[in-house]
Amino acid sequence: MKKGILVPLLFSFLFAASQNIIVIHADEGKTIINKNIYGHFAEHLGRCIYDGFYVGDTNKIIPNTEGVRNDVIAALRKMKIPVLRWPGGCFADTYHWKDGVGPKDKRPTIVNTNWGGVTEDNSFGTHNFLNMCEALGADPYISGNVGSGTVQELSDWLQYVNFDGKSPMSDWRRENGRDKPWHVQYWGIGNEAWGCGGNMTPEYYANVFRRYATFMNNWIKGGHLYRIASGASDADYHWTEVMMKDIPHNMLAGVGVHHYSIIDWNKKSSATKFTEQEYFATMKSALQMEELVTKHEAIMDKYDPQKKVAMVVDEWGGWYDVEPGTNPGFLYQQNTMRDAMVAGATLNIFNNHADRVRMANLAQTINVLQAVILTNKEKIVLTPTYHVMEMYNVHQNATLLPLKLTTDDYKLGDEKLPSLSASASKDSAGVVHISITNVNAHTQEGVTINIDGMKCNKVSGRILTSAKLQDDNTFEDPDKIEPKAFTGAILKDNVISLKMPPFSVVVLTLK
Ligand code: AHR
Repeated sequence: MKKGILVPLLFSFLFAASQNIIVIHADEGKTIINKNIYGHFAEHLGRCIYDGFYVGDTNKIIPNTEGVRNDVIAALRKMKIPVLRWPGGCFADTYHWKDGVGPKDKRPTIVNTNWGGVTEDNSFGTHNFLNMCEALGADPYISGNVGSGTVQELSDWLQYVNFDGKSPMSDWRRENGRDKPWHVQYWGIGNEAWGCGGNMTPEYYANVFRRYATFMNNWIKGGHLYRIASGASDADYHWTEVMMKDIPHNMLAGVGVHHYSIIDWNKKSSATKFTEQEYFATMKSALQMEELVTKHEAIMDKYDPQKKVAMVVDEWGGWYDVEPGTNPGFLYQQNTMRDAMVAGATLNIFNNHADRVRMANLAQTINVLQAVILTNKEKIVLTPTYHVMEMYNVHQNATLLPLKLTTDDYKLGDEKLPSLSASASKDSAGVVHISITNVNAHTQEGVTINIDGMKCNKVSGRILTSAKLQDDNTFEDPDKIEPKAFTGAILKDNVISLKMPPFSVVVLTLK
């Protein structure tokens, strides 16, 4: 028996009944993990924009830059937010961008009919969003209004933000204080066109898309405009089929997919006081992402074998009951180790499908759904999900490494899920990172990692875990859950062995 086979077997034996073996081919990477897989989403919904990102440009209490909280900017920069989708969601198809530019005292109000029926004063508009993206170092991804807007309106928006020459819209932008265009590359043509975006059939929407796309000029000299189609909900494979078949691919840079990790729309469970059954059901829904991505990808492959059109999972994340006492239309929920598990496992899925999934946007950045930041007056909390996003950012723009995972099962009653998920990449300096998530609520999992195609000299790591699955970071105890150095990985003869505590995320660095 060759030594390369004997050593992993020996390690598996030493780590009791563990069946977890990862084999990585460090010299066989071909695909770049697009950094935009680590993207986010900010809608005019509840306290995401107002009272989340934006506290108003006359606010003297909370330090801000043009009204955007400085602590939020610093945290998102540290997390390396690559792209931010705005202004919705369902809100996008009710939003008229011209209401949100020019002198603030002249801006009309609208009613946010999707989210709580509150009055939207349009004080946060296009300039605020695009300047904020510059401050964050993130690319903007604008969702255009198709449901209640016009082709002219969206065409004007592009000219306003992207045209450098003289035109009615670019002159208006200059009048409003911005000389140079922002060069926004990513444009969504509507949102959830099958539902809140207009209740369209895919065949009808594909024609609408073609019409809108025709008048969306690429004003970016030498740059590319990415027109993204509103995508399927979950397993609506027919939707993807029609997008790929009916829209010419020179008009179509990406097709969306939305999937939330939800137990039951009528009984979503508390975000913090959940049972193991509820945890298991959430993880089952989260891990369904593997099947969804694989099946949507197979359809896209049929029409686009060269994989030119990207899959854009522009809404994903956990969705629970709102926190007691908060507005049901604001979707404010706490964030626990369950969410860290959802994030760790989902990001591994996206990495492993990086040849097709080239953007994803977690819903939503601040104070809404699976947020990475919660705010309360002067205080902010970085959630367990934030920490997973920050730990995994080593994969951004690195080369995906092929990996084979054999994993134990996490069993509950008659059902089972894979305990572990993993992905690996090599960065431009040749450093290899491996992210592993153990979703098993009870079992410490021994893992053996066999590395081929690279001589490993050193392994280090970071871990995120906590005493209870229901643990969260609160305004009273904001640092209860944060990444710690992980010293439990042992390297011997190019084989790494480690023990993953129940519900934990580990990211290893190999040099
Ligand atoms: O993220 C909340 C909502 O979920 C979005 O507005 C909509 O697109 C989706 O249904």
